Amino acid sequence: MKLNIAVLPGDGIGPEITQQSVKVLNAVADRFEHEFYFEEAVVGAAAIDLLGNPLPDATLELCKKSDAVLFGAIGDPKYDNDPEAKVRPEQGLLKLRKELGLFANIRPVKAYDKLVDRSPLKAEIIKGADMVIFRELTGGIYFGEKSTSEDGRSASDLCTYSVEEIERIAHLAFKAAQLRSKKVTLVDKANVLETSRLWRKTVKEVAKEYKDVELDFLFVDNAAMQMILNPKQFDVILTENMFGDIISDEASVIGGSIGLLESASVGSKVALFEPIHGSYPQAAGKGIANPVASILSAAMLLEHFGLTTEALAVRKAVEMSIALNVCTPDINKDNHYSTAKVGDFLESVISDPEDHDINNDNLKLGQMTII
Ligand SMILES: NC(=O)c1ccc[n+]([C@@H]2O[C@H](COP(=O)([O-])OP(=O)(O)OC[C@H]3O[C@@H](n4cnc5c(N)ncnc54)[C@H](O)[C@@H]3O)[C@@H](O)[C@H]2O)c1
Repeated sequence: MKLNIAVLPGDGIGPEITQQSVKVLNAVADRFEHEFYFEEAVVGAAAIDLLGNPLPDATLELCKKSDAVLFGAIGDPKYDNDPEAKVRPEQGLLKLRKELGLFANIRPVKAYDKLVDRSPLKAEIIKGADMVIFRELTGGIYFGEKSTSEDGRSASDLCTYSVEEIERIAHLAFKAAQLRSKKVTLVDKANVLETSRLWRKTVKEVAKEYKDVELDFLFVDNAAMQMILNPKQFDVILTENMFGDIISDEASVIGGSIGLLESASVGSKVALFEPIHGSYPQAAGKGIANPVASILSAAMLLEHFGLTTEALAVRKAVEMSIALNVCTPDINKDNHYSTAKVGDFLESVISDPEDHDINNDNLKLGQMTII
């Protein structure tokens, strides 16, 4: 397959983690005989510094004409610490999401066996948890009309959804469930909110087209509790913008490190793949940032184009790196590998999987001797 991929490294650790993803995608292209072409462009604070605009026209044009966007992270303390700044790095990402019509944010969350003890939740609760959250990204209360009264003593945010907005993400969630454990949980607040009642009605209709998928419902307050009590019950969670924002951050605790959590944002045009973490500016250039979230986002990119065997090769390599402790210090404090070394390891496992049998002695030692 031939793919043109726009690479937007962004700020902080963005460039170093994205570089590892490109390495991994090149290894995939070589092994599976694909042609991946990468073109870089600036975004965020780096783009403000260079051109005074967090999403320069040339960057947007590149994204629009590409098959997919590989995004690093944006954000810089000089803007975070200046609430008066009129031009801000985040505006670049928000505008890009809007311009590309990215209406669904997809976040897989999984507890890796080797890391279950790292979570603040009990190992027996999270072991085996494996879910995907489909969060609506361009509607609801975040985008509704906002107002503050003249005397500043009252304010309102309007929450609206249309049937079309609900249907398009619901289809994505059901299709994903068909390839997983065939269960969709709609998270809403249908006992109180009119928009949630529309979600229930619409999703029930959509469900009729996916008879092999079980559909159940949870009120968001209960869902927040169930996420901690019994996360294994979830397969695909489908929800609106604000509930998804909250639930997905809560769920990320199950993964063990934010440096492992991937995401995809899809719409009608070009899709965007990015780690869920930010630019972690304290770590920039130190080689301590975990590149796995970005690399797994690249695996989602492959899945998006139907390259499931290729994506599986990436996921298996990541699992091997975790099993062998070839990890950055957020996961492995004692025996850590740099950002680039983890990328090198994954690249070499993907290029030559037969050369990398897991050696149980190394596993027990929590060390590896392959590279
Ligand atoms: N999508 C995005 O680009 C995005 C998302 C969130 C925050 N931000 C921006 O990033 C900047 C920093 O924000 P923040 O500190 O709140 O969030 P952050 O995600 O950058 O970092 C929070 C903490 O998470 C850990 N962490 C994050 N990424 C990691 C990685 N790859 N490997 C290991 N540990 C990692 C670190 O302990 C870090 O201190 C801000 O400017 C913020 O606006 C951008």
